[in-house]
Amino acid sequence: MADTKPMNVLGIETSCDETAAAVVQNGTKLLSNVVASQTEIHAQYGGVVPEVAARSHIEVMLPVVEQALAEAGVDWSGIDSIAVTHGPGLVGSLLIGTLTAETLAELKNKPLYPINHVQSHVYANFLIDTQPKFPLLALIVSGGHTQLVLFKDHGNYRLLGQTLDDAAGEAFDKVAKMLGLAYPGGPSIAAAALKGDDLAYPLPKPKLEGLNFSFSGLKTAVLRTAQQTAGKDYKLSSSELPKLLTEKQKHDLAASFQKTVVDILVNRTLEAYSQHQPTSVVIAGGVAANRLLRDELKKQLPAEISYAPINLCTDNAAMVASLGYFQAQIHQPVDYPDIKVAVNPVLSM
Ligand code: KG4
Ligand code: ZN
Repeated sequence: MADTKPMNVLGIETSCDETAAAVVQNGTKLLSNVVASQTEIHAQYGGVVPEVAARSHIEVMLPVVEQALAEAGVDWSGIDSIAVTHGPGLVGSLLIGTLTAETLAELKNKPLYPINHVQSHVYANFLIDTQPKFPLLALIVSGGHTQLVLFKDHGNYRLLGQTLDDAAGEAFDKVAKMLGLAYPGGPSIAAAALKGDDLAYPLPKPKLEGLNFSFSGLKTAVLRTAQQTAGKDYKLSSSELPKLLTEKQKHDLAASFQKTVVDILVNRTLEAYSQHQPTSVVIAGGVAANRLLRDELKKQLPAEISYAPINLCTDNAAMVASLGYFQAQIHQPVDYPDIKVAVNPVLSM
């Protein structure tokens, strides 16, 4: 008879500026999800400072793991394996998570699975009631990535297209900075856009072959438009430009930019859908928290599409634990007893 004992995976995630640990049962049932965010620390610098991020991870890593176990109501005997993000991300940040996971795996005698952060974002969608079915089309949109990926099954996937320059989240963050809106840019742009007119400033969309994306031209177009709107056609420092724009102009620019990014993302996803006819479509990564993107995809896609809650779209360890469970079904853990996980800041899908 098949072994039906539930399998609890402890996930650990430190690829950027969130220190996170979570316990997930059988890849789908969330038992706990703890995220210590450093957003406030980095907001004063307008972006993530890698050295500061690594130091903050060290300070809270073990308490976050302990809290994840306590909230799940399990002790170490109730943890079957550990999954940890080993890339892509900031090298100093990744090292804190992997060193912690290696040490705990050795001390507590647990198998350890290294996890690809970008792929793990897709697994936030396995933690909700209506789980996606294969073949599955994933639009992965985060601060570092913009990709369309077709999954035939767990561990069996193909990259269909990706950004050729900036990631969608990166464009949100950079445009927010131009407009003097708070870091992280995505939520600030979305909030400003609610008060703006998305037709106020026509912005260009890239004409690309295939299923690739590009956002750097759009970002430059917003800068030029903002400079012209401010009555200046020369280069202004990032602190000068926002002071020359009215609140209404900022709201209109934010709305026009957001609408253009969403149009680009939806258009490519529709194209990928019609080419590959997947059973499910999911959207993953921090930008998947964007309300307009969710609404437009739901409206325009001729498929059932369900979304993970916003706290599972941005960086967390529950998605890492979920992918860890499915990896454990098809892969061997890291060699024992010399448990070493190689971090890879530029790990691709
Ligand atoms: O996945 P994530 O938490 O971290 C990375 O792996 O990059 O994504 C962070 C990105 C940031 O660029 C942030 O501005 C963006 O997700 N983001 C949003 C929203 N919430 C977060 N972008 C657009 N709309 C949002 N509501
Ligand atoms: Zn992420």
